[in-house]
Amino acid sequence: MNNIGQYLATAKSFSREALSLLAFVCGRDSSWIIAHPEYKLNNQETKLFTKKFEQLKTGRPLAYLLGEKNFYKHSLIVTPAVLIPRPESEIIVETAIDYYQKKRHNRQIFLDLGTGSGALIIAIADHLKSKEVSRHGRCYFGASDISPAALAIAVKNAKKQHLKSQISFRSGDLLQPWRRYLQINRRSPLFIAANLPYLTPAEKARETSIAYEPKLALIGGKDGLELYRRLLQQIETLKLSGPLLLMMEINPHQAAALVKEAKKYYLPQYIQKKADLSGRTRFIIIDK
Ligand SMILES: C[S@@+](CC[C@H](N)C(=O)[O-])C[C@H]1O[C@@H](n2cnc3c(N)ncnc32)[C@H](O)[C@@H]1O
Repeated sequence: MNNIGQYLATAKSFSREALSLLAFVCGRDSSWIIAHPEYKLNNQETKLFTKKFEQLKTGRPLAYLLGEKNFYKHSLIVTPAVLIPRPESEIIVETAIDYYQKKRHNRQIFLDLGTGSGALIIAIADHLKSKEVSRHGRCYFGASDISPAALAIAVKNAKKQHLKSQISFRSGDLLQPWRRYLQINRRSPLFIAANLPYLTPAEKARETSIAYEPKLALIGGKDGLELYRRLLQQIETLKLSGPLLLMMEINPHQAAALVKEAKKYYLPQYIQKKADLSGRTRFIIIDK
C-alpha cells in the first residue's frame, strides 16, 4: 500500500489523471489530495485505484473511469453508451442562447438531435429556465437519440439537474420523433442543435483516442455526412414557415461538402460557417 505522494510521483505523464482518480477513489476533492501526500490508501482504495489506473494507461478515457464529465456549467453522468461531451460543442449552447435573446418575443422550440448525454439541451434549458421563460411557457425543449441506452443517460442527467419535467425526451431517427409536433408548430422559431456522428469509418479506425466511445455516436456513413444529408431532406419535407436556425457540428475538412449540400435547399445568404476556438470551421449553420 502506497501513500498519495508515492502514487503521484510514479504516475509520470498521467499525473493529472492520477490526481482525479485518487480524488475519486478516496471520495475527496483534488485539493484535499494535493494537501495530503502522506495519506495511505486503504485496501479497497488501493485495489480500485490500481484497477482504474491500469485501464487509463490502456487508453480508457478518464471520463468513463470517473463516470462523469463537466460540460458548460454541469457535471454530467457519462458511460460508454454516450459520447464524452467536447468543449467545442459549448459554442452550440452559446449560439442557442443568443438565438433566444434575438427572437424572445415568440414561443421558441429548441431541439437537440442525437442528444447523447443530454449535454447540449441541458445546458440550453438550464440557462433559459428563468422564471420569465417558464411562467409564460415560451420555450419548448426536446431531445432525442436513436440509442435507447444513450437516451436513458440523458434522462438521468436531466433529473440530476432538476430539468426532467422541462425537457421532452424521445427516441428515434433524426427529426422523426418531432414530425407531428413540428407540423402543428410550423410557424414557431426553431433552433436545432445537431452534433450528429460525422466521422468516416477510416477516420474512426485511425483515431485511437476515441476507441472506447460508441460507434453509433461517431460514424456518419461513407463520407461522414450521411446523417446531415438526411436531416436536411427531413427538414425540407416539413415545409416549416417560421424562422429556423440549424447548427451542425462537423470536421473542418467537411465544410465545403456540407455547404454544397445545404445549397440544394437554401440560398447562400442563409448558410454560414462558424469556427471553433482554434479558428477552424467546426459548424455549418442555416439561419433563415
Ligand atoms: C456525436 S454524438 C453527440 C452527443 C451529444 N449531442 C454531444 O454533443 O455530446 C451523436 C449522437 O447521435 C446519436 N445518433 C446516431 N444516429 C442517430 C440517428 N439516426 N438519429 C438520432 N440520433 C442518432 C448517437 O447515438 C449519439 O448519441
